[in-house]
Amino acid sequence: MGTTSRPVLIPSILVCLILCCSAQNCSNHTFLTNREYSFCSDLPFLQAHLHWNYIPSTKTVQIEYRAAQNSTGWIAWAINPTGTGMIGSQALVAFLHSNGSMVAYPTPIASYIPSMKPGTLSYPVSNISAEYSNNEMAIFAIIGPLSNGTTVNHVWQAGNSVSNDIPHAHPLTGPNLQSMGTLDFLAG
Ligand SMILES: *[C@@H]1O[C@H](CO)[C@@H](O)[C@H](O)[C@H]1NC(C)=O
Ligand SMILES: *[C@@H]1O[C@H](CO)[C@@H](O)[C@H](O)[C@H]1NC(C)=O
Ligand SMILES: *[C@@H]1O[C@H](CO)[C@@H](O)[C@H](O)[C@H]1NC(C)=O
Ligand SMILES: *[C@@H]1O[C@H](CO)[C@@H](O)[C@H](O)[C@H]1NC(C)=O
Ligand SMILES: *[C@@H]1O[C@H](CO)[C@@H](O)[C@H](O)[C@H]1NC(C)=O
Ligand SMILES: *[C@@H]1O[C@H](CO)[C@@H](O)[C@H](O)[C@H]1NC(C)=O
Repeated sequence: MGTTSRPVLIPSILVCLILCCSAQNCSNHTFLTNREYSFCSDLPFLQAHLHWNYIPSTKTVQIEYRAAQNSTGWIAWAINPTGTGMIGSQALVAFLHSNGSMVAYPTPIASYIPSMKPGTLSYPVSNISAEYSNNEMAIFAIIGPLSNGTTVNHVWQAGNSVSNDIPHAHPLTGPNLQSMGTLDFLAG
């Protein structure tokens, strides 16, 4: 019964996924899995969005950071506990590993030429993972306890290439130099 409709149905689902869902913002984003977040912020640069839940009893935050990206690029999101911008930021980075899996890990950014290798952040990170779908990469993690309150400086970034499974430098122009702000995990 389904043999004639299938070839029509599958391409139209694909077209719909590519056209509709790659540009979803906070108010119309639908999650593929049954994740739910109380808060969301459409970030003003790099087609990026941050979804989160704040758990007051443990001072932890469940986050999903997602942003437009190619399969060959990388994305990162960070809290900077000691300043604004890149230096000092405590980052989570994700990219498609050469073995075919999405990988995500913490990496502290101490200089303008960071190693971008896995490292330890100034705040605890657990349950970190990443996904790639519909031309978007997403990082999932639980961060905290946050010892310095719920208002943080955050920074987000994207780069076009990864080699030997290490993210390369991001562009040094336009939105890549503007992608920072402050965020209150309690107030949204
Ligand atoms: C979601 O909103 C964005 C921005 O307004 C729009 O471009 C996109 O088409 C919308 N997607 C869906 C599935 O409604
Ligand atoms: C998000 O998408 C919805 C639906 O398309 C739209 O009404 C709303 O203005 C968009 N918001 C932003 C911040 O782009
Ligand atoms: C994807 O790759 C193309 C070609 O390299 C580039 O122009 C585009 O900006 C990339 N998209 C993102 C989101 O980085
Ligand atoms: C790919 O490499 C990452 C990082 O070393 C590892 O965590 C993951 O399990 C690997 N995946 C496969 C399919 O080998
Ligand atoms: C809290 O702030 C201090 C001083 O700015 C900083 O050194 C420390 O790393 C911060 N703690 C966390 C968990 O980020
Ligand atoms: C975090 O990971 C642990 C160990 O895999 C799991 O037991 C726990 O349910 C996860 N927590 C959340 C909130 O997903």
